[in-house]
This record gives sequence, structure tokens and C-alpha cells, in this order.
Amino acid sequence: MPKTRQIGLSLGADICWPACYEEIVKRLNLSLPSGTDTVDFAVERVRVAPYDLQYTPKYDVVLDRITHWFMTTREWVKKAAIMDGVYVLNNPWMIQAAEKHTTYAAMLRLGFPVPQTWMLPPKSYFPAPTIVSDADMLATTRRYNDLFSLEKIGEQIGYPFFMKPYDGGAWRGVSMIKDAAQLHTSYDESGTQVMHLQKAVEPFDLFVRGMGIGPQVNVMKYDPTAPLHARYVVAKDFVTDEEKKTLQMYSRVINAFFCWDYNTCESLRKDGTFFPIDFANACPDSQVTSLHYHFPWMVLSLVRWSLFVAYTQRKMRLNPDWESFFKIAEGEGDFATKLPKYDELARKHFDAERFEEFCGTHLKHLDEVALEFFGTDAAKEIFRQKVGALFPKHEINVFTEHFYSQVQDWRTDYKAEKKL
Ligand SMILES: Nc1ncnc2c1ncn2[C@@H]1O[C@H](COP(=O)(O)OP(=O)(O)OP(=O)(O)O)[C@@H](O)[C@H]1O
Ligand SMILES: [Mg+2]
Repeated sequence: MPKTRQIGLSLGADICWPACYEEIVKRLNLSLPSGTDTVDFAVERVRVAPYDLQYTPKYDVVLDRITHWFMTTREWVKKAAIMDGVYVLNNPWMIQAAEKHTTYAAMLRLGFPVPQTWMLPPKSYFPAPTIVSDADMLATTRRYNDLFSLEKIGEQIGYPFFMKPYDGGAWRGVSMIKDAAQLHTSYDESGTQVMHLQKAVEPFDLFVRGMGIGPQVNVMKYDPTAPLHARYVVAKDFVTDEEKKTLQMYSRVINAFFCWDYNTCESLRKDGTFFPIDFANACPDSQVTSLHYHFPWMVLSLVRWSLFVAYTQRKMRLNPDWESFFKIAEGEGDFATKLPKYDELARKHFDAERFEEFCGTHLKHLDEVALEFFGTDAAKEIFRQKVGALFPKHEINVFTEHFYSQVQDWRTDYKAEKKL
């Protein structure tokens, strides 16, 4: 009996990756054996509509991209996961609850070299949030807020450091602080935002982003000073094998810890150590206009992981298993000896061996399909649509060609690497 696994794409402004994802899954034309049945896959874009909480969504897996800002969908994916057993990627509760601050605290407990970080109460409490009156806010802060010396904290951390929101994203409100005067100015300007001060990793000699999708991790060189479309650098051999392994473990462990299937970790290297500074990015860059050369890796990895999840009817982990990680943290040894132990848990969490076996058995033709597709006019047209949504009219052609040609470079390199 043929059985169809339903994959839902819950999207916002995304244009390019879903179109490529849909096309590749279609071209794979899978019909996989499962006992006496066969399994095929249908991909559909999730619609937003009123629903009775008692209804059963049709999806086995939902790849969600808007939970962090679109409240109707945030609640819908939560209902689908908790009530109907839908595998939602990423875990919506862990997006909502684990801000940058929590992720710093948790990884510090595991021994990650997160730079020294302080939390500051906000400079201002007014206007108060709508759920509280100004009078209650005034009473609370007058009664319980300690006066403190901002300059003393600055001296304790040591300049330079970064001021940035505890729940950051998109570089909003991030500034580098070089002296006490600047510290005061930036704090005054931060208003009602709750801010961190974080010791700068300065000077760093390498900036990397490790994108994790399931157990797969791609380590990319990153240049924060480049224009948006060129921040992910096309580079090879910028880390040793050992460093690459470490960075892959960083991403995998963080993602397993927080039950995120799809996230990036930013780390800066100084004196040979990688300091992770931002790893609560559970809706990472996924556009050809930012990932360019690295875009096919992301699409292929999402295809592999979501098909594995759908085929095996993998159970979503609703509650994180933090205790197992803490047990290792509390045991003997330094961070370098603990990291591979955390990674063992992470690989187990992602069922890495079974995943690799699934890819080797059922997705043997994926490389070929993807290599062919990313060389077609259809792929170029998808890139053009994305470029058209972001760039001024006179730049559409030139940037479409630019991103397409970077993807062709990926094809050349990938063919060589896979000996295809
Ligand atoms: N401790 C640090 N040391 C050195 N540079 C830092 C540090 N913290 C932040 N930065 C710089 O500021 C940038 C923005 O900071 P961060 O990544 O924490 O903020 P964000 O708003 O979460 O960014 P994103 O858009 O990547 O989600 C970083 O990419 C890096 O260039
Ligand atoms: Mg960042």
C-alpha cells in the first residue's frame, strides 16, 4: 500500500529555498519501501486560517520559518506538536523561551568559552508595557532596583566590549564600547531594552558560522564587515580538520541541547580558541542572496533531514534533556575532553547513524538530482525572483548572474568532491 508523508512549509517572505526544496523533492520522485508498504512524500505550503483546536492537521513534518514573529503560526505549530504529534522544526517552545541570555548561561555551564557577559537592568522602564500600569512599574523599580555604577562594571569587564540586547537578532542595538563615555551614551540610548555587556573577542583572526541541520554542520567563514550579500565568504582550508570538528561539535551540541534542528552558531577565533558569541539563531539566513555558494548545502541538508524525519516518523523531542549534559559538565576533565562526550549525546539525539544510513540507502541519487537542478534555467529564475524582491531594478540582472555563477562554482567543487 502506498503511504504519503505530508511535509508542510510554514513560510513568510521566503522565496528561493522553498522553491528549490519543492523542486528537488519532486525530482527525487521517491517511493521508499517500508515493511509491506511504500512511502512517498508530498510537500505543501501551510496556509493560515481559523481552526478548531480539535482538528487534526494533515502534516507529518512542518518546516517552520515564522514562529518567532507570526503569532498565529506560533500557536498553530505548538498545537500541532503538542496535540497531534506533528514534528515541527524548530521546537517552538525552545525558540520562545531560550533567548540569547539563556543560551549563554547554559553553554557557560557546559564549559563553552563564552566571553564574559553581564546583564544590565534597562536604563528606562517607561513607557511601561501595556500589561502593567506606570504606577506599579514605578513602585516596583523604586522599591527593588539597586543603584549601580555603570563605570565599575565597565572596568571589571575591560574595554572594549559589546553592548547588545539580551534577546538580540539582526544586529539591532549592537554597539562596540571603547570607553566610559561611550558606555554612558549607549546605555542612555538603549532606553527600555534589556542589554548585555559582553567582552569583545578582540582582535580575532577568524569569524565563522556553523550552520546545523539535524546532525549535519557546515562551517563557513564569515566577514561581518562585508556588504550583506558577501558576508558568507567562499573559502576553503580556513580551519584545520581538528578545528572544523570542534566547530561542528559546538553547533551540534547547542542544537541538541535546545532541541533545535536548524540553527547557526557564530564563533570568533583568538589565540587559537573559538569563542562562541551568538548561537540563538533558530531561524537562520536561508536565502541565496546571503548564502550564495553555500545555498545548495543548506537546501540539500534540509531535504535530507526532513525526508529522514518524515520517513522514519521521528518523534519530536518536546522537552529538552538538559540533565544528561549537566552530568557530563559536572564530571572529570576539561572542556576539550567533555565536548566529544556532549557530542555523543548530540549525535544520539539526532539519531545520526540511522540518518547517515538512510541517506546512503535511499537518497543515493540526491547529489545527482541537485547538481543537475542547480544548473538549470528554472533554478536561475528562482534566484531572479529572490533578487527582484531585494535589489533595485537596475541590479537585478547583474546580481542574478552573480549568485547563479557562485552556485555554479559550488556545482564544480561538489562534483569534484563527490567524484561525480
Ligand atoms: N563579544 C563579541 N566580540 C566581538 N564581536 C562581537 C561580539 N559580540 C558581537 N560582536 C559583533 O557584533 C555582531 C552582532 O552581534 P550578535 O551576533 O551577538 O547580534 P545579533 O543581533 O544576534 O546578530 P545576528 O544578526 O547575527 O543574529 C557580531 O556579528 C559581531 O560582528
Ligand atoms: Mg549574530
